[in-house]
Amino acid sequence: MEGRGSLRVRGSKTTKKPEDFPLSGVNESNMRLPMRCLAHNRRVLVLVVVLGLVCLAIVSLPLFETESSVQLDWHVDPAHKQSVHQYIHKVLEGECQPGSARQSLLARLPPSSQITQPFLWKDVPLPDDLFLFSPPFGFRGLQDKLKDLLSLLPDSDSVSKLGQASNKCQRCVVVGNGGILRGLELGPLINQYDIIIRLNSGPLGEFSTDVGNRTSIRMSYPEGTPLAWVDTDTDTLFVAVVYKSVDISWTSAMINKLAVPLWEWLFFWQKVPNQIPLEPHRFRLLNPQVIRETALDLLKYPPPRPRLWGWDQNVPTLGVSALNLASLLCDEVSLAGFGYNLSHQGAPLHYYDHLTMSAMQQQKMHNVDRETELLQSLIKAGTITDLTGGIHCSFCPSLSTRGI
Ligand SMILES: *[C@@H]1O[C@H](CO)[C@@H](O)[C@H](O)[C@H]1NC(C)=O
Ligand SMILES: *[C@@H]1O[C@H](CO)[C@@H](O)[C@H](O)[C@H]1NC(C)=O
Repeated sequence: MEGRGSLRVRGSKTTKKPEDFPLSGVNESNMRLPMRCLAHNRRVLVLVVVLGLVCLAIVSLPLFETESSVQLDWHVDPAHKQSVHQYIHKVLEGECQPGSARQSLLARLPPSSQITQPFLWKDVPLPDDLFLFSPPFGFRGLQDKLKDLLSLLPDSDSVSKLGQASNKCQRCVVVGNGGILRGLELGPLINQYDIIIRLNSGPLGEFSTDVGNRTSIRMSYPEGTPLAWVDTDTDTLFVAVVYKSVDISWTSAMINKLAVPLWEWLFFWQKVPNQIPLEPHRFRLLNPQVIRETALDLLKYPPPRPRLWGWDQNVPTLGVSALNLASLLCDEVSLAGFGYNLSHQGAPLHYYDHLTMSAMQQQKMHNVDRETELLQSLIKAGTITDLTGGIHCSFCPSLSTRGI
């Protein structure tokens, strides 16, 4: 919050005095401006140059990655594919254990941090410590914006609660966007899950053979949301994840079918969609405690500290946060498409594009090693299952013949 506030103040200062820029016009008289004026403007100038470079980097990065990556020649070992299919059949045919995922997770959590609600509602009291931290860990200083957003959402009892409505033991699968899904043709098996959680823009359509075509939940933040909506499932819920305060405005605009205020576009680091074709009752707001619990209690990151730009490496990826959400909604939780093998540089990063693992090494926001350790220990303990074996392969003959 602080960072954004000061950014805005400084930004307006620079726009008020465009004529003060000594380098804005390249002519002789400008070169002879008094030193006093140069010193006065240096801070503003440095800020503008830095902002310019940051924008340039943000704009050019995805383009650069897409263009420089070669067409992937990726093929799946048929024996590996067969063992993945067999393993998923085994998971689906096993006896579903009610409440098992959450119970097993709770054993790792301090009693103080128990979350009761996966989503926030206007008619359910908000958690006491919700306003302790800034997004994505809380809504510090954002009481009014939050209230406005919640007023647009349905009442908690007017919608059927995912999973909890039925007495049937619910199996969830969190479908990651990992390239490990490519060519495994798991679509029909993924479709058999009771609740299918997808992340960000993970597409379906031509990829349905690999990832299925049902979506119970699409969980995303503005920049991650598909520019053109991809879900054809009439039951899909959009779960909004708030990483910064404009994400609240954007979510409100999407529910209201209104345009995002122009100046707020400045705060998105990538193009965001200007509409989501779902009725208001299909929107949910993720309880930020789900992310906070993932970061502080599961990943054991230190409590967040305010910074001018960006975060410490203490923001969990959406995938691990989705796993924690799934434990609140479902009885059993499986992962598919998780796992980055960073040492396998030529492997596909996503199931849907041509990026390779090397692109992942450029990101600095998430601590991938810590997340991998957590997931491995959850899989080994039987809390969750890893259907594609990219984190920990419990069905592979041996590590040396894993084929990923
Ligand atoms: C998924 O594909 C199956 C088979 O093509 C089709 O019957 C079903 O309607 C599709 N479901 C959705 C949600 O698109
Ligand atoms: C990652 O990829 C490298 C290179 O292909 C391979 O040697 C290694 O076994 C892989 N590691 C895992 C954990 O799969």
